[in-house]
Amino acid sequence: MYIEDEIAALKKEKQAIILAHYYVPDEVQEYADFVGDSFGLAKKAIETDAKVIVFAGVDFMGESAKMLNPEKKVLMPNATASCPMAHMADVKTIEKVRSQYDDLAVVCYVNSTAAVKAVSDVCVTSSNAVKIVRKLPNKHIFFTPDRNLGHYVSTQVPDKHFILNDGFCPRHDTVDPAYVKQVQAAHPQALFLAHPECRKEVLALADYVGSTSGIIDYAGKSDAKEFIIGTEGGVFYELETRNPGKTFYPAMEDAYCINMKKVTLEKVRDCLRDETNEVRVDPDVAGKAVRSLERMLELAK
Ligand code: 13P
Ligand code: SF4
Repeated sequence: MYIEDEIAALKKEKQAIILAHYYVPDEVQEYADFVGDSFGLAKKAIETDAKVIVFAGVDFMGESAKMLNPEKKVLMPNATASCPMAHMADVKTIEKVRSQYDDLAVVCYVNSTAAVKAVSDVCVTSSNAVKIVRKLPNKHIFFTPDRNLGHYVSTQVPDKHFILNDGFCPRHDTVDPAYVKQVQAAHPQALFLAHPECRKEVLALADYVGSTSGIIDYAGKSDAKEFIIGTEGGVFYELETRNPGKTFYPAMEDAYCINMKKVTLEKVRDCLRDETNEVRVDPDVAGKAVRSLERMLELAK
């Protein structure tokens, strides 16, 4: 039997759904039931009435899906697919910053551990961070873990005071503005669409800044025919499928997130068949962390 048929049969038997991020390999995106950015995936995880969720993505995504759906079984195709940035924040630093400001909101990017979410006031994704931070009543914002997204949000919400944690995405943080300028010079008609995890020097060159879904939607609606893409290379699958008449150039030489690429179709089949790599979160931690996720869902409306 072909692997695609095996997966289809297993999904039916187990009442399962496959959710995938835009960065996982093309063939996993092709056979997923829903492909999205972090926010879209979190919402989809709540809406589905499937009994089992196979989360084709990295650790924090599976954890969030589980905390929002404690009664569902959430399976990760590869238990070692982990976002390094999510581990660049810690509870001690948050407690220290909290003790220094009276009127502080701790805002954690969804790319964070459940323990960090549990001591945060609200969670955000790249698609809703600006909207949510603008709505917070607090004057001081501690943004963790991503210093680049935090800096970008601070430029969009200038009336607040930001303290930034020093985390970063190893992939987006290394996008080189000099390289982007070379690509722009080679393709002067192309619009540059960048993810806010890139450094401020890169974002300064961008025609549009947004999440993976934001970039895909923008390219689809735009009249331009050429685009330089400042995010992980997995988005090219959706960009090229949706826009056969448009051309996309990467803004970096090595555009791949090694952790997202660990999620293969074979591993999707195996975890569904054997029900392995089930996501488990300490109930005490989950009970607190889910509040910051639920507040995000509320404030993003
Ligand atoms: P999005 O929410 O934009 O899909 O980003 C997730 C991510 O990990 C970016 O590196
Ligand atoms: Fe984490 Fe960066 Fe990979 Fe996104 S691209 S999952 S932030 S390492």
